[in-house]
Amino acid sequence: MTFALSEYHQQKKEEFRRFAAAELDSGSEFPWTNLNRAAAKGYMGLPLPKEWGGGGEDFLTYILLIEAVSAVCASTGVIMAVHTSVGTYPLFLYGRDEQKKRYLEKLARGEMLGAFALTETGAGSDAAAITTTATRVKGGYRINGCKIFITGGGEADLYTVFALVSPPGGRRAMAVFLVEKGAPGLEVSPPERKMGLNRSATTALYFNDLFVPEENRLGEEGAGFGIAMSLLDGGRIGIAAQGLGLAGACLDYTAALLKKRIEADIEVGQGSLFTLADLSARKQAAALLTYRAAVVKGCGRRCTGQASMAKLFSTDLAVEAAARCLDLAGLEGMSDNNPLARYFRDAKVTQIYEGSNQIQRIVIARELHGG
Ligand code: CAA
Repeated sequence: MTFALSEYHQQKKEEFRRFAAAELDSGSEFPWTNLNRAAAKGYMGLPLPKEWGGGGEDFLTYILLIEAVSAVCASTGVIMAVHTSVGTYPLFLYGRDEQKKRYLEKLARGEMLGAFALTETGAGSDAAAITTTATRVKGGYRINGCKIFITGGGEADLYTVFALVSPPGGRRAMAVFLVEKGAPGLEVSPPERKMGLNRSATTALYFNDLFVPEENRLGEEGAGFGIAMSLLDGGRIGIAAQGLGLAGACLDYTAALLKKRIEADIEVGQGSLFTLADLSARKQAAALLTYRAAVVKGCGRRCTGQASMAKLFSTDLAVEAAARCLDLAGLEGMSDNNPLARYFRDAKVTQIYEGSNQIQRIVIARELHGG
């Protein structure tokens, strides 16, 4: 049993940290510049096999990337995480060869951006309650319905869309469809105005009799719910890494701030240092949970419980770290230009999306009693 990153993973962590510090910005527009720079480095499909345009790295290495990127720009972090784990992986895991040829290589190279369309107004936590339908017609399906809170909406080139093949409805009728940007019948709402992660476009998608050819169904009819759940296992580890990156950024900023105060002979109370010490210990614990889940996933084993624990612990920490570090910074942390203010706004949603932390508790509890 070992608790340290291998030398290889440590080197990768440093490589990603240098990349994020030197090449990424935390501006205000959709971060195409960051995404293009990541693509140029081969980072948009890091854990996908090289034969399909990916980086051929393991899942842990990908998680270290998302952590490093999120510490500089958490919006870029979530777009990359969604693109990779729930936008690109479905093609790799469930795509037929001709679907892989058409889309996977471009997604893995970052020439296309992927997004995931599951959530609906009445189906957020209860993912089985979706009502979007895919009605069989000659040569394919017609999709009708509406998805909300889609990360990368309007910017993405390919949406993985979950719909009920009707009749009949219900979870066992769920199937997955690949819908391209600009498809006739696809309408995208303007981006939501949000408290945080403002660079990441979040939109609704409306499907009005949208025709999807048979060859764009991913997996079998009825397999959709299991596909969604298995993808979310990996997706949640990505969000845990995003939380870890945000918590680390809060701690680094605040430790440097307190050091500056000490050097300037401004009194820093022991309580402030204890706060940083507590957060630091919890960050180590979050890293261990997140890296463990990534290793289990990387071995091809089911990681549902580990992923939920990592997501729960790490994103709760991100919110707590941002709030406590703002306390320590005092009024200077309140300025809109202060990174702590941005970390605080960005952190909150990590507890809510990719399955709220209440859902993570349900998943963990079910695993405990085997139900
Ligand atoms: N892997 C594979 N299969 C799984 C699975 C997993 N992790 N979890 C469940 N399944 C299978 C079960 O084996 C079961 O199969 P059978 O029907 O063949 O027996 C089936 O799925 C149903 O499982 P459950 O009984 O557990 O399903 P449920 O209806 O009780 O729901 C839930 C479980 C965990 C609450 C689920 O609804 C859920 O995860 N909700 C949250 C949804 C979510 O995370 N949405 C995120 C949206 S994407 C996003 O946020 C991205 C972003 O922008 C950042």
